[in-house]
Amino acid sequence: MISSKIEAALNRQIDLEGFSSMYYLSMASWCEVKGYNGIAKFLYHHSDEERMHMLKLFQYINDRGGHAVVPGLDAPPKMYASIHEIFETILSHEIKVSNEINALVELCIQEKDYTTHNFLQWYVAEQIEEETLARNVLDKLRLIGDDKGGMYLLDRDLQSLSVTVHGSSKED
Ligand code: FEO
Repeated sequence: MISSKIEAALNRQIDLEGFSSMYYLSMASWCEVKGYNGIAKFLYHHSDEERMHMLKLFQYINDRGGHAVVPGLDAPPKMYASIHEIFETILSHEIKVSNEINALVELCIQEKDYTTHNFLQWYVAEQIEEETLARNVLDKLRLIGDDKGGMYLLDRDLQSLSVTVHGSSKED
């Protein structure tokens, strides 16, 4: 059984993961409208991943005797200046998520809730991957600069990365 303090903190994380899913969805839509179809595909898949992060929390809270609550979400921004801004946004958002996960881990230690502490290790590892991915794309964008051919290739690469990471086919 989780304490009400841990339950409330995990529900706040549900809110953040749910918002992340909508945030990626909004960025995917902007990219699609602007013709960056590969990057859009990558971001649509990532939005699904964030929903999965949220659902894992639902399952855990309810399995441990709490009540997972559907969040009322604020709308994410809908306009972005550039692909560079999108990935800067992603990196700073994921750093924020990492900080929240770390605060949750710290709370589990204070509350001596080692089961939830163990559950959260999956999120700790996931955050390292997500931050690294955003930094890698930003490095590539810096190399590309204003080169349109480079942007074309990055768009294509991110579409294939989406297939590799998310295991989907190109037809979906
Ligand atoms: Fe679920 Fe991108 O953090």
